Amino acid sequence: MAWIRKDLLGLEDLNKEEIELILNTAESFKEVSTREIKKVPALRGKTVVNLFYEPSTRTRVSFEVAAKRLSADVINIAAQESSVRKGETLIDTGRNIEALKADIIVIRHSASGAAAILARNVSVSVINAGDGWHEHPTQALLDIFTLKEKLGSIEGFKVSIVGDIAHSRVARSNIWGLTKLGAEVTVCAPRILIPPGIEEMGAKITDNIDEALSCADAVNVLRMQFERDEENAFPDQLDYFKKFGITEERLKKAKKNIIVMHPGPINRGIEMSSAVADSPSSVILEQVTNGIAVRMAVLFLVSQGHDQKNDNIN
Ligand code: CP
Repeated sequence: MAWIRKDLLGLEDLNKEEIELILNTAESFKEVSTREIKKVPALRGKTVVNLFYEPSTRTRVSFEVAAKRLSADVINIAAQESSVRKGETLIDTGRNIEALKADIIVIRHSASGAAAILARNVSVSVINAGDGWHEHPTQALLDIFTLKEKLGSIEGFKVSIVGDIAHSRVARSNIWGLTKLGAEVTVCAPRILIPPGIEEMGAKITDNIDEALSCADAVNVLRMQFERDEENAFPDQLDYFKKFGITEERLKKAKKNIIVMHPGPINRGIEMSSAVADSPSSVILEQVTNGIAVRMAVLFLVSQGHDQKNDNIN
């Protein structure tokens, strides 16, 4: 199949074949990063703008590395240091970036739906690098890519997602992506951190960590977003670690080869012990490496989708 979308806004929008196309394209791009000269000319002459309204280490750098490996030119805009501080709207900023003849905008924003609003108002491609609590599609794609490398496929495997589900765009994108590919997904968190609508997305729910781990092939551990605990309703950090933290003791009762994942940044000693984070079960840094290939694939495909749409118009 051919990719026909100009944007990547979320995994809810994609069908199984589109997700598989991204994963297969990423597989072919992964080899580029092992070459002595880590570059291919696929996006030569194109300009990618990273427009980040929220802090990021992994996603921003990974998109920059991915774009450069495809030979694109890359501009990074941190909104706090831009004319956003003078009151410029998201749409005006996007239209100005378009007027500067950029080809792809990669956006991270604190508001759910920001990427979709931008995509509707500019003709350049838009990639969602995380919008509020809504979606973080490339994180889920790199998580799924890493799982597929380890397990051989996704269909029929069991994945537990543990942590602050309520505030997590990573959880939502993972649930959409994994269930579309046939995985069984369980979410595990204190009840207060499980939002409505999770079962309708196709995931099971538990607040018992041992149950979540007991037959999981992989556990994806999410950051506890204590900064969002405005009503002081979260369990305290020590209590959370005692009830939900991933420890060596807990993993002894899980499947022998359980895969431990985390999108980062990790709060060591809160979501998981340092011993687990650095153990042979952990694929956390492999996830980061795989993010480059996945983002190369997404940048390449949306660029193709954009050109195809324009060809059809002309
Ligand atoms: N996983 C993730 O999105 O990390 P950053 O916030 O560092 O980009």
